[in-house]
Amino acid sequence: MAAGIDDIGIYIPRLYIDAADFAKARGVDPAKLVKGLGISQMAMVDTNQDPACLAANACLRVMKKNNLSPDDIGRLYVSTESAFDESKAMNSYVIGMLEQVYGSDSFEHCGGVETKFACVSGSYALYDNANWIRAGEAEGKNALVVVSDIAKYDLGSSGELTQGAGAIAMLLNDNPRLLSFDSKVTATSIKDEYDFYRPFGKETPIVHGQYSNLLYLIQVKTALMAYKKKALAQGIIKLKEGESILDYIDYICMHLPYSNMGKKALAYLVRHEWRGLPRWKKIIEKIGMEEPVPKDPRGTIESVLGDTEFMSKDHEFTKLFTKTEEFQDVYESKIASSLIGSTMIGNLYTASLYLGFRSSLEFEFQKGIDLEGKRYGFGSYGSGSSAMVFSGIIQPGYKEVIKDMNLETEIGPRKKLSLEEYEEIHENKRSRTDNILDGKEEFVLVDIKTIPEQRGERRYHFNG
Ligand code: HMG
Repeated sequence: MAAGIDDIGIYIPRLYIDAADFAKARGVDPAKLVKGLGISQMAMVDTNQDPACLAANACLRVMKKNNLSPDDIGRLYVSTESAFDESKAMNSYVIGMLEQVYGSDSFEHCGGVETKFACVSGSYALYDNANWIRAGEAEGKNALVVVSDIAKYDLGSSGELTQGAGAIAMLLNDNPRLLSFDSKVTATSIKDEYDFYRPFGKETPIVHGQYSNLLYLIQVKTALMAYKKKALAQGIIKLKEGESILDYIDYICMHLPYSNMGKKALAYLVRHEWRGLPRWKKIIEKIGMEEPVPKDPRGTIESVLGDTEFMSKDHEFTKLFTKTEEFQDVYESKIASSLIGSTMIGNLYTASLYLGFRSSLEFEFQKGIDLEGKRYGFGSYGSGSSAMVFSGIIQPGYKEVIKDMNLETEIGPRKKLSLEEYEEIHENKRSRTDNILDGKEEFVLVDIKTIPEQRGERRYHFNG
């Protein structure tokens, strides 16, 4: 049985900080953000928003767009790493909010959990729900998988340059108009790591930035190799002499903690895949330098990062490689459109990969390309750490779903925050009722109880 994504709803908060202004305020060259990291704006939540109401807003949008009633939904999963309760799952809050619109107990028949594994958990939720559908358990109903996060780092830290917020709701069923997942090829890798983590009670993560960059690349490469084995064994891709598996993946979407990570990851994966192929010799000749190798043959992350001579040569090699016509061709045709959304919005943690997919669909469609039958490959990464690589094929009904997609109109009119407003919100110095924007047709957080017997209970309101 087929299973895949039928439609996508997004909700992005309308407050933002401008990357160039922000860089200046932090004494950083604006070019580092705009060119080095690929960030122009970062979406920020208002005082009356939390990850649960972002998720409910995204669900409501996709349900309204498709005229769905709660009866059409069999499962509602929320994947997040911005959880605010150790026990009560975020999907229960979302159901509570949706029932304000659709009526009390209207979702009673529905099941679901909150999933956690940093940014990769949404991909595990998609996989589990696709298998629920494939197993014939859905009885004609849809699953909603919502990825929702607020990427928030300490003031003044290097992570502060890579923030963002938003939610994406994906509607899954057995006759998807948008993308049908390739079956039996989903591949994963996993390792106990401390590249990025957020201990209980801490609002912002502890991050080892350069370590996390390299670990991301290694983990995704490991998962891609496992995907390759499965795809060849399943016969969905057949390689001829001198070909790479990436030649058969029309579009690539990567987890995007910042937009340029997509380019970095693509370069790393392409180098790994092409290295053993005849085409590599020609590329090395063009670049004019041999590909550097680390001194320590064990190649642990610590030893690679500590090998400053290798790191600097490898950096130089990567820069030259990414300028070659061969790489530029892969970059422009397979990934560039997926990076636009991230540049406008920033890091959405669990939702970043799917914002990339959404962005690719919109901007490739605008080019007039017929996407039917094209294969999308997904490289998902979550710190801590695990990667997942999977793929799917764009379906004949895709045009109906994506013809009206427009990120700018879907976000709506945005308001730029001053540095003072941003810092007040970031440091929780502004009261909940001192919100900057008044949203229409959306859920907002109105209260968090403080009396002992109700401590932590949240109340939401639908601004109709
Ligand atoms: P950093 O040390 O501030 O920056 O850390 P950098 O020195 O690496 O510079 C960044 C880029 O800007 C480099 O480009 C510089 O050359 C360039 P690259 O060489 O890599 O192509 N640059 C400039 N370009 C033009 N003009 C200039 C200039 N200066 C520098 N003047 C880092 C950056 C991303 C590590 C930091 O922001 C950070 O720690 N962020 C948070 C962690 C993170 O995003 N890690 C990514 C991988 S792990 C992951 O994705 C998981 C995550 O999403 C969490 C989860 O799974 O839950 C984070």
